[in-house]
Amino acid sequence: MKEIIGVELKMRKVDFSKCETELLVIGLFSDTQKLDKLSGELNGKLNGAIEQVLKLGDFNGKDGTNAIVYGNENIGAKRVLLVGLGEKKKATLDTVRRAAANAANKAVTMKIGNASIALHKAFGGRFDLPTMAQVMAEGTYFGSYRYDEFVTGTEDGRLGRLDVELIDSDSAITKKLNKGFSSGIAIGSAQSYARTLANRPGNVINPDKLADIAKKLARSSKTLSCTVFDEKQLAEKGMGGVLAVGSGSQNKPRFIVLKYKPAGKAAAALPTVGLVGKAITFDSGGISIKPSANMDQMKLDKSGGITVLGTMKAAAELKLAVNVYGIIPAAENLPSGTSYRPGDIITTFSGKTVEVQNTDAEGRMILCDALTYAAKQNCDIIIDIATLTGACKIALGKYMAGLMGNDEKLIKQLQKAAENSGEKVWPMPSGDEYAEELKSKIADLKNIGSKWGGACTAAAFLRHFVADKSWAHLDIAGMDIFEKATKFSVEGSSGFGVRLLTTYLMNLTKKKS
Ligand code: BES
Ligand code: MN
Ligand code: ZN
Repeated sequence: MKEIIGVELKMRKVDFSKCETELLVIGLFSDTQKLDKLSGELNGKLNGAIEQVLKLGDFNGKDGTNAIVYGNENIGAKRVLLVGLGEKKKATLDTVRRAAANAANKAVTMKIGNASIALHKAFGGRFDLPTMAQVMAEGTYFGSYRYDEFVTGTEDGRLGRLDVELIDSDSAITKKLNKGFSSGIAIGSAQSYARTLANRPGNVINPDKLADIAKKLARSSKTLSCTVFDEKQLAEKGMGGVLAVGSGSQNKPRFIVLKYKPAGKAAAALPTVGLVGKAITFDSGGISIKPSANMDQMKLDKSGGITVLGTMKAAAELKLAVNVYGIIPAAENLPSGTSYRPGDIITTFSGKTVEVQNTDAEGRMILCDALTYAAKQNCDIIIDIATLTGACKIALGKYMAGLMGNDEKLIKQLQKAAENSGEKVWPMPSGDEYAEELKSKIADLKNIGSKWGGACTAAAFLRHFVADKSWAHLDIAGMDIFEKATKFSVEGSSGFGVRLLTTYLMNLTKKKS
């Protein structure tokens, strides 16, 4: 199997025009009349070529666009890539991140193996330098990502490795950039790791394989540990929800628990966050089988669990000062003679019974056991992330994840993390009205509500299993996948949530001022 593109990121102090590179990357806004200092300087050395491109209208600085200007003997770069930043006053940190992604995407497409990024220059002092370096690193990983492990043809080839450096001519600036750079590398590489795992199909990743991957991840760090419950242990513990969903497949369910404990004695005094991620390695719907159109996309129904895995990796690399559980219930939802059926009454790990009305509402059936587990571990805060409902995708489209919960403060913190990370969320309700729809006459709950508000009734179902804990729920159906390539990324898994959850954890560990 082919390895995904290796990305190497470095920082260098070097004069912009002297920098010897295949691709020098700078940013330009769409609405500035005058070139800024760096683009002006380069334009001079290039005998007005940048102005020329703008004047001809071949490039206008709009968000998501780029243009190449070729170098000459006056500069060290062979090519200068102009990346559009859109309107200056609308720019956010995500503009910087996406510009880096756009550039890295272009470099890989053109098979250019090294690039030097100076995107921060266009922003003056608008954002702090460490954070700029962080988001440029994140964007570089994001845009250069390709998934072609199983493509054996080499005819057209593709880059094996991309070397990127962030550059500045001032060592005081590179020093500041350096402060955020390693966080960006940890987060960006964790997100690419997650995308590859999520992109692997159901015949490659099943619950047991996923458990092996989690164990391997834990072995890579002293601060991570991993425990896996197999189907026998699930039965002993009474995790009836996970068992029911997994009962139709030969690939038996697993319950994966990763734990990140920061080094040092102080860990006990720090808060504990439980991250719970849905990992249905393939969702056919089970006996309530799905239509066949786009059913292949349901290999991505493990995305929430994979996001948790990626976040655990980043948390360990960043040595965050918070305890984190990564709880990943994993099962394959298939129809067979051993499947759970509509009408079945399942006793969940909490002791609560659930009447199954639709076997395709399986996410909540595995999450309920995982939420109960998180509450029993005494997590102070529980956040679950799941490709839970088509209804959420219908409500919010492909731009934002649904955010529900029982604690306003936690919801605000996640909204803040969404703003910082560029992975957007939108608040949605999940209160008593929705819970009302889940009442069953023959069990404590049923697993679906009415036709309407499906994302909210799903969240209302989960709420029953978090005991008295602070809890938030992210419905990422619609966010897990790019159905088509964008200016910033190829199609397939988006790795959504790795940046959001890691940023949330990072923000928690920052001292309150
Ligand atoms: N994995 C799906 C939700 C989903 C749909 C994710 C589309 C990504 C894209 C989930 O298990 C599911 O099938 N939900 C059902 C729930 C229904 C039966 C109440 C749905 O959304 O139709
Ligand atoms: Mn389903
Ligand atoms: Zn599902």
